[in-house]
Amino acid sequence: MCDRPGMARIPIPIDEVLADPCGALARAREAGGFADAGGAVAVVGDDAVRELRADGWLHANHAILASMHRKFTSLTPALYDYVVAHNPPQDEILSDLATETAALGPVAMMQIAVEQGAFLTLLARLVDARRAVEIGTFTGYSAISIARGLAPAGRLLCCDVSDEWTAIARRYFARAGVAERIDLRIAPALETLATLPATPEIDLAFVDADKAGYRGYYEALLPRLRRNGVIVFDNVLWGGAVVDGADERASTVALRDLNDHVAADLRVEAVMLPIADGLTLARKR
Ligand SMILES: C[S@@+](CC[C@H](N)C(=O)[O-])C[C@H]1O[C@@H](n2cnc3c(N)ncnc32)[C@H](O)[C@@H]1O
Repeated sequence: MCDRPGMARIPIPIDEVLADPCGALARAREAGGFADAGGAVAVVGDDAVRELRADGWLHANHAILASMHRKFTSLTPALYDYVVAHNPPQDEILSDLATETAALGPVAMMQIAVEQGAFLTLLARLVDARRAVEIGTFTGYSAISIARGLAPAGRLLCCDVSDEWTAIARRYFARAGVAERIDLRIAPALETLATLPATPEIDLAFVDADKAGYRGYYEALLPRLRRNGVIVFDNVLWGGAVVDGADERASTVALRDLNDHVAADLRVEAVMLPIADGLTLARKR
């Protein structure tokens, strides 16, 4: 718990903070201090996220309180539904695929979110993708989304190691009428990438596989990406773990490393966006 030199601790019932975080912080600030809400401290200033996290609040609450100081709108389930309702509707094929994938159990959470699918289709169109690569296909939702946005005669190379999950993908590729555009290779993605020409021909790459592999995929893809081509990385926020100093899982460490590396890499122009679990788009200069 933090005591702030020169600032008074202003006790505020936690319910009040949750009901009206902005008002609670404003009252604390007016009183010349910071809000102390039943063990969770809301520091007025730039430290809000870090200090709240240390106190174990839910991420949503961090976000609400932090939004006082930074420009973003936290999603609630209702707002998320609103976002989805204002995106292109999921068609019957993707809806059936999501239902069949959900029946696999907890692994289904690996599937991208519906708005990410719409985004990938749009992005493929925007970059006029003729050659696209996907690393991590699973049951095929993102692959179908990308394939639908390909330019005429465009091709998507899909990399995965699972025969079982991609058997589902193959069925839905056929049903969606994109099977002819997709080359699915079952092998570790680095091995598949190594078979590609070293020339810069790829327009769009989507990386959504083992997190420890992301840095290697980036370095294998970048020389093969054409100028203004885009690499998209999924899960760059890793459920918020990337800013949790206590989280030293290999996947978290790998994503932090990737995020730092891409942000500092002058070969690309990269933006990180809080879509779903975080997407980074890196455009090759
Ligand atoms: C998060 S899922 C991909 C989800 C998919 N993009 C979708 O929209 O449903 C990750 C996938 O990466 C695959 N994978 C894991 N390690 C891999 C590797 N070394 N090479 C290729 N694929 C790998 C897994 O088999 C799994 O299907």
